[in-house]
Amino acid sequence: MSYIRVLFVCLGNICRSPIAEFVMKDMVSKRGIADKFYIASAATSTEEIWNGIGNPVYPPARKELAKHGISCEGKRAVQITKADYGKYDYILGMEQRNIRNILRIVGMDSEGKVKLLLDYSDDPRDIADPWYTGDFESTYRDVVEGCEGFLRYLEKNKLVQ
Ligand code: 4NP
Repeated sequence: MSYIRVLFVCLGNICRSPIAEFVMKDMVSKRGIADKFYIASAATSTEEIWNGIGNPVYPPARKELAKHGISCEGKRAVQITKADYGKYDYILGMEQRNIRNILRIVGMDSEGKVKLLLDYSDDPRDIADPWYTGDFESTYRDVVEGCEGFLRYLEKNKLVQ
């Protein structure tokens, strides 16, 4: 059986995309379909990677996940590579700027894999960026909306049962 391979992407891979990675893992696990997925997250930048070692999830993001009973233990920032384009079926950016940076790294999106996470919601937009606002609740809420919409899309199109 082949997995549905999903890569969530943001600038640093310490706030938004790890929240998306672990919310999505939690959702598919609660629906009993975790074994149909391979889910990960990555950065467009190397801001949070030092000598090849990525920083852990930013503490306020970790706390927001913990509030909802979700652990992100062991996750460290990694940068998206050109090879990831072939490794994933869906490469989901958190904001429009991520999409531009993803395309700079992977090249042309010839298979239409690169999307905004909230493109799968009824209200396509950027995920709220908590970096300057400190508002991790809004980020969490937007991510849940996006992941629910994405799962609805997969179910509706019979890509997952
Ligand atoms: P993220 O948050 O992209 O949601 O992981 C940020 C992380 C690092 C920086 C900005 C945003 N930075 O400027 O280093």
